[in-house]
Amino acid sequence: MLNVTAIETFYGPSQALFGVDLSVQAGEMMALMGRNGMGKTTTIRSIFGLTPPRRGSITFELQELHRLPSYRIAQAGLGLVPEGRRCFANLSVRENLLVTARSGRWNLARVESLFPRLAERRQQMANTLSGGEQQMLAIGRALMTNPSLLVLDEATEGLAPVIRQEIWAAIRALKAEGQSTLIVDKSLAELLPVADRCTILEKGRTVWTGEPGALDDTIRDRYLGV
Ligand SMILES: Nc1ncnc2c1ncn2[C@@H]1O[C@H](COP(=O)(O)OP(=O)(O)OP(=O)(O)O)[C@@H](O)[C@H]1O
Ligand SMILES: [Mg+2]
Repeated sequence: MLNVTAIETFYGPSQALFGVDLSVQAGEMMALMGRNGMGKTTTIRSIFGLTPPRRGSITFELQELHRLPSYRIAQAGLGLVPEGRRCFANLSVRENLLVTARSGRWNLARVESLFPRLAERRQQMANTLSGGEQQMLAIGRALMTNPSLLVLDEATEGLAPVIRQEIWAAIRALKAEGQSTLIVDKSLAELLPVADRCTILEKGRTVWTGEPGALDDTIRDRYLGV
């Protein structure tokens, strides 16, 4: 469904991506991995047109995304949960969920059953939620757009263990129902069991793609530093 081919992306004069290849098939949970600063977030920003690549191609369900404005990319069916979650601080939990809603299989009731904490805090302002609850809200908001492809950038980073486990449980539930997802997360112990395939970036390049079972110690040592 998503095909990223040989993209090169720059921040001003400085090149961050030197040739990233990545694909996600329908129904697949695809993990994008690599150490800090290797280009994972920049790849996601490239897909969403936030930092458009200078070279290469990005197609989504056979439509060329390259050079489309970000709102058109969202309309095409991509839903983003960005690094460092973003909610509307002065809207309630429920308003945050409804403001981006589009019809489809995800609705308020299903998002609230995926994240019961959000149901309990329906009327609360988003800026009074804990960090983990805001992350749940960010995921819920993205689901409310009924994306064909959900993209999660570090959805569990810096959260308390109990909240992290709740978010991983939700991610496993998404996988069980065949939600196509591109996921970046540092926690390999949780990520690898849910991933159908992995792509590893090293200094802005794709260096490895395969199934988690094929990820041997040599590759881990070399590219993931674990
Ligand atoms: N706004 C920016 N301006 C200039 N350079 C940037 C900017 N954002 C990222 N970079 C550079 O681009 C490269 C890739 O960064 P990126 O954030 O994509 O990595 P990452 O794999 O997501 O890292 P992390 O695991 O820390 O989130 C790094 O060298 C980084 O310093
Ligand atoms: Mg990042």
